[in-house]
Amino acid sequence: MSEKNNFNEYQEKTVLVTGGAGCVGSNLSEKLANLGAKKVIILDNLSSAYEWNIPKDDNIEFIKGDILDEAILKRVFKQRPSHVFHLAAHFANQNSVDNPEHDLMVNGIGILKVLQHAQLTGVERFVYSSSGCGVYGLDSKMPFEEPDISISLHTPYQVTKLLGELYTNYFNNLYKMPIVNARFFNVFGPGEVPGKYRNVIPNFFYWSMTNQALPITGDGSETRDWTFVGDIVNGLLAMGIEEEAIGEAINLGSGKDHQVIDMANKVNALTGNKEGIAYRARRDWDAKNKLLSSIDKAKDILDYEPSVSFDEGLKYTHNWFADNWDNIEESAEFDY
Ligand SMILES: NC(=O)c1ccc[n+]([C@@H]2O[C@H](COP(=O)([O-])OP(=O)(O)OC[C@H]3O[C@@H](n4cnc5c(N)ncnc54)[C@H](O)[C@@H]3O)[C@@H](O)[C@H]2O)c1
Repeated sequence: MSEKNNFNEYQEKTVLVTGGAGCVGSNLSEKLANLGAKKVIILDNLSSAYEWNIPKDDNIEFIKGDILDEAILKRVFKQRPSHVFHLAAHFANQNSVDNPEHDLMVNGIGILKVLQHAQLTGVERFVYSSSGCGVYGLDSKMPFEEPDISISLHTPYQVTKLLGELYTNYFNNLYKMPIVNARFFNVFGPGEVPGKYRNVIPNFFYWSMTNQALPITGDGSETRDWTFVGDIVNGLLAMGIEEEAIGEAINLGSGKDHQVIDMANKVNALTGNKEGIAYRARRDWDAKNKLLSSIDKAKDILDYEPSVSFDEGLKYTHNWFADNWDNIEESAEFDY
């Protein structure tokens, strides 16, 4: 990021991070505390996160609770956060196919409730974590540019991530709430604990570090725009400040894509895993061979510039796995 974004604006602010115990939220909360925010409130029900992963700082208050719980929301918004980063979500595609109603509750009713409280208390900025994998479809042009969304989607999660944008836009249109829709692309990095419904990179590190072959669902030539979590955090912080971002949807990606097979080989090389790759059938909903963001709009409005290369990001992730292995091994939940 350029000098323009030194994020001093967060000093003395009270900031709410819903889902702040998760991968993106824990990194964002830690950075906000380091920037000198007066108070960072983390609201998280720990449904897919762990207390050991929550950053510890005198300025961070962790409230264990559900975004669907009115009493909890009242308690949180009583502290009058100026900024809300709404990251709590039912995550992600396979989980939503298995549990579509719960997905709609959390990602639909949940965001509506948080927006209502934010509106009643007059927040200065509401940043919502939408999804590039969610809102763009097979009928969108590559690289994905912001206007080119699809309404032909493949999972309930994709539907409800888009629904979240429709709600934030509605609050912007009717109440002039200063919202920003951040469309993340395949986030990875320290802070994501592996598990049945988690992303491929933490799961590959887990299997690799337990000496298992890495299961590729497809032929491995599929590509993803993996984006380091620290870059996502910088993009989010800029969205909380820049006036021009208000009312906009903006991609946060790396602007580069990598093949799944290359990623798997890199993970096995970093961990010294000799078990190689195991090919499995592609998942029915997994229709996209390639995901690639255009980050021109983020560069233009936010001065966003991804600063961590894919290889560096994988090394940081591996280091985090090694440093936290006992907790990760105990927490990782898989069916097999
Ligand atoms: N990680 C990615 O690749 C990616 C890509 C696109 C969009 N996103 C979006 O970004 C956000 C953050 O992603 P992440 O990777 O940090 O996910 P995550 O699952 O690690 O974090 C979400 C957090 O929300 C919490 N949560 C879930 N339901 C809740 C509820 N009802 N009440 C309170 N807390 C609840 C979970 O415990 C978890 O800590 C999510 O909204 C996700 O949909 C992520």
